[in-house]
Amino acid sequence: MGIFLQEDNQINTNNITIQKNDVSREMRGNIIGKFKGFRGCTLWLTGLSGAGKTSIAFNLENYLVKLGIPAYSLDGDNMRSGLNKNLTFSKEDRQENIRRSAEVAKLFSDSGHITICSFVSPFSEDRSLARKIHQDVGLKFFEIFINASLDVCESRDVKGLYEKARNGTIKSFTGIGQNYQVPIDPDLILDTEQQTLDESTITLVKFLEGKKIIPNTPECRVEIRNNLFFNNQQTKL
Ligand code: ADX
Repeated sequence: MGIFLQEDNQINTNNITIQKNDVSREMRGNIIGKFKGFRGCTLWLTGLSGAGKTSIAFNLENYLVKLGIPAYSLDGDNMRSGLNKNLTFSKEDRQENIRRSAEVAKLFSDSGHITICSFVSPFSEDRSLARKIHQDVGLKFFEIFINASLDVCESRDVKGLYEKARNGTIKSFTGIGQNYQVPIDPDLILDTEQQTLDESTITLVKFLEGKKIIPNTPECRVEIRNNLFFNNQQTKL
């Protein structure tokens, strides 16, 4: 018997047994990507809308994949266009959005991808749950705070949403109708008021080297540094 609904419509998972794949992480790490070794992990980028999460995530993903390192970017807007399209921006639905997205990130990460998540994820409790979902199965999880002030994000207003929030068209907009809980102890802070997009990406690359996620043998380092192309310009580490 699989998952079934009880009379109160709660999903009963009592009769569920986790099935362990025959393929180990080590085996996966040896067949995917240019450099051998399992490097699945999740980078969780959190911050206000307009802080630069998606730009940094896509820039890093682009760099890693070009280099032959498996990476995939999961973005809040994209998740909300598919799997999470039935969710609103209420506190409860944001929690469910993060829970589901973290479960997806866990699977990508387990498959050996550097999984780069960009979600506003305004509530500490939800981010802690995302971390727990990974750590419970032995996967590395890094919380990266993409920091820019509300004033700056609002002045960027890339999607025109701050204007809508100010004139009341959008309710519960993070930073205006609903609060953003600043991470207390993030693994890394990227200040996008001080750094350019490429500088933030390089900071993340160095962070991944330091955590031994990106290979850092002398040969790999040369290759990594020689391939650092961002926005069609070569940028020195
Ligand atoms: S989260 O709070 O649940 O983590 P998520 O990252 O998935 O948010 O989605 C945020 C994106 O949805 C924003 O980048 C923005 O484009 C859009 N959006 C629409 N309404 C809101 C809102 N009320 N608050 C924040 N973002 C919103």
